[in-house]
Amino acid sequence: LVLVVDFGAQYAQLIARRVREARVYSEIVPHTMPVSEMLARRPKAIILSGGPSSVYAESAPSIDTAVFTAGTPVFGMCYGFQLMARGLGGEVSPTGAREYGRTAVTVGRGGTLLRDVPLEHTVWMSHGDSVTAAPAGFDVLASTATTPVAAFEDVERGLAGVQWHPEVLHTEHGQAVLEHFLVDIAHCRQSWTMVNIVDEQVDRIREQIGERGQAICALSGGVDSAVAAALVQRAIGDRLTCVYVDHGLMRKGETEQIERDFVASTGADLRVVDAEKQFLDALAGVSDPEEKRKIIGREFIRVFEAAEAEVLGPAAAEGEKVAFLVQGTLYPDVVESGGGAGTSNIKSHHNVGGLPDDLEFELVEPLRTLFKDEVRLVGEQLGLPAEIVWRHPFPGPGLGIRIVGEVTRERLDILREADAIAREELTRAGLDRDIWQFPVVLLADVRSVGVQGDHRTYGHPVVLRPVTSEDAMTADWARLPYDVLERISTRITNEVGEINRVTVDITSKPPGTIEWE
Ligand code: XMP
Repeated sequence: LVLVVDFGAQYAQLIARRVREARVYSEIVPHTMPVSEMLARRPKAIILSGGPSSVYAESAPSIDTAVFTAGTPVFGMCYGFQLMARGLGGEVSPTGAREYGRTAVTVGRGGTLLRDVPLEHTVWMSHGDSVTAAPAGFDVLASTATTPVAAFEDVERGLAGVQWHPEVLHTEHGQAVLEHFLVDIAHCRQSWTMVNIVDEQVDRIREQIGERGQAICALSGGVDSAVAAALVQRAIGDRLTCVYVDHGLMRKGETEQIERDFVASTGADLRVVDAEKQFLDALAGVSDPEEKRKIIGREFIRVFEAAEAEVLGPAAAEGEKVAFLVQGTLYPDVVESGGGAGTSNIKSHHNVGGLPDDLEFELVEPLRTLFKDEVRLVGEQLGLPAEIVWRHPFPGPGLGIRIVGEVTRERLDILREADAIAREELTRAGLDRDIWQFPVVLLADVRSVGVQGDHRTYGHPVVLRPVTSEDAMTADWARLPYDVLERISTRITNEVGEINRVTVDITSKPPGTIEWE
């Protein structure tokens, strides 16, 4: 275990990921955690992240210098580097020369940390203060035009640091530097693999649920819930029931694919609830996006609760501790909401099916320590089909928020056809993994004039919205090759009767959002 101490950097998550990419398990802890508590977890090494403050600022987050003398190897990055310098008697000063973004670094003596790294290379910097003198016992390894001490190490004591951000993509040789610290200075074993995660999680789930408990999972068709369910299935077999609510707003073939491939690859007990009519009835006459979302959310809970009462009801009535709810919560969600280890209880409102009012669910969240890309690897490890593992994110309200205007069965069918063509062509071009999401939006309330054969047509436009992104918080429009766009356009207008115009959305987020509603 390597602990990444978070000093308020947006980089802490990235650092934890890079450590895992080096096949060493890592977790993020807040800088407010007492050093004794960190050490009690017996980490093989501790990494101090960057942070927004100056070490001299009034409220600058700090760390007890005991962290440097406990015998556990420590690596400081950026702000963490300055904390280490200052904490051990070096000098940090506001040199007045700030460095932001790409910076050339000159390696003097590579030592262990910068061994085999080119003497001149480019790194990503973001700092105002600089280390002007290394603490006693440290070797200075590199400098920049304005920073005399840009990297140092004391291999004997297992301490090292760099002024730059080795974790970001723009830093050359960042991963090599990180691995030199982990392997050559901290002597971590590079043994953490996806197989370990699967075995470890399966053991943990068994421990949590015990010999008799029953669990339920709402499958959405997306990768997170599918992988979470597959792990729990492996742990407790048919004591898990998966519920998939078909709200009629899914894309072409999606429900059938879940029924077929998910069950075939996991052996899970899957109940598909056909609730299309219920959802479409509730959506009739509604075109406001938020209103649609509310209705879909409300109906979903109703349907799921009814299914749940059916599955868990009899056992609950016998007073067993049965109610485990499986969720595909990921590590970024846990970290962002300030949560730590442990499971939380949520209370479910039961207005159906005669369950006790105060029935509490215990959450089972086997992906709580994983990043999205790791979840995909676990999914592959569990034998889930590529269509599920590599599926693009898809919003809960489904195609309901990709029809601008009222949602009807007929409009859904039109959109499903157009969407299927766009997805097929993207896959054929081998671009699935380069694109974050590829919504196709039907402008159902807009009509456009066209000509097909010798006939005037009066149909609807669709909007293609391919985007690239890392986390959906920001996004850019994807520059799809013209020939791919051309094939999509030709096929949609030829094959989907009601559509006579195909447009491409070239708005980034912000100011646009990914979805149109
Ligand atoms: P926007 O459109 O806000 O979308 O840029 C960001 C990400 O969230 C998804 N999204 C939703 N997911 N329920 C969901 O479960 C929703 O109501 C919803 N709205 C947007 C969207 O697909 C994108 O990945």
